[in-house]
Amino acid sequence: MTISSRLLLIGLISLLIVSSSVTAYLFVKTLNSPVTLAKTTEAQTGRYHIILIPEEMNNPYWESIRKGAMKAGSDVHIQVEFTGPAQTNEIDQIKIIEKAIAAKADGIITQGIDNPAFKSVVEKAAKRGIPVVTIDTDAPDSRRAAYVGSNNYHAGFLAGEALLQSTDSDLNVGIITGNDHPNEKERVQGFKDAVKNHVNVQIKAVKTSNISRVQAAEKTYDLLQKYPDINAFYGTSALDALGIAAMTSQFSQRNKMMIVGFDTLPETLDLIKKGQINATITQEPYQMGYESMTLMNSILRHESFAEINNTPSSILTKRDLISRNRMKNINP
Ligand code: BGC
Repeated sequence: MTISSRLLLIGLISLLIVSSSVTAYLFVKTLNSPVTLAKTTEAQTGRYHIILIPEEMNNPYWESIRKGAMKAGSDVHIQVEFTGPAQTNEIDQIKIIEKAIAAKADGIITQGIDNPAFKSVVEKAAKRGIPVVTIDTDAPDSRRAAYVGSNNYHAGFLAGEALLQSTDSDLNVGIITGNDHPNEKERVQGFKDAVKNHVNVQIKAVKTSNISRVQAAEKTYDLLQKYPDINAFYGTSALDALGIAAMTSQFSQRNKMMIVGFDTLPETLDLIKKGQINATITQEPYQMGYESMTLMNSILRHESFAEINNTPSSILTKRDLISRNRMKNINP
């Protein structure tokens, strides 16, 4: 490595350390602070009061879900409140569900968690006649009324196919996964199953990013140190591929790195256009937000509803973005 690239790397790592200390500080602060069920967004006036509790507030993916939910709220006249942990934290999320029950919400929409405490809080809501709908991640063992979101195993399988389609070379893969929530586990399992019969693909290790871009970059660095032959990465949550790309772009000899990520944040699409990310698996967070609200409206009105409501996922590459743009020019 040249002196200038070494200096660049040292600079980048110092930046990562500062940002992760801030992340750690905020995390500890969140743990220690009492959880308040503040109204964090404008709520429409309406017949029902529904509380939507995301995995974390400061996250662009959940922001799309919020927007979809708010639009449905104004279309079907439901009062929507959006509140949750600042950063992913199961315990806080469960406490906020408790508060929503105490506040006598008409319905609760939240990400499913695989935790006995989640099961019992959903049970408590059900006993009080407050329906719970899971969004983004299901918790089929709980008493939730219905699920709206991707089929995460299938989405993970698509990610494996996307990687196989992008090259014929031998692949040594590092996986960065958001955390151990069921949706992330299913995405890892789907990917593993898609590549399992391909002898040229070897999965080196799986690391978690705590759904943080900075931690995804740090874990990418760790993996590259430990397994210098890694030439492909798979990031399973919305910010992982961005962290992976930020780190791998610093390793000049690694410009052949293949990256498959998740979601269609504007920055991700930008890096796909630039060729730094090879493919992403699309999800429909706005639609999830919208449909979960209209579904909750049906439940509260005692109308019939489906228990599992999968929103679509697909592989998106640079070629798809180019043809999408062409279509726009033909059909603006
Ligand atoms: C996942 C969410 C997660 C988000 C984090 C998405 O891909 O579906 O569960 O909260 O990434 O950025």
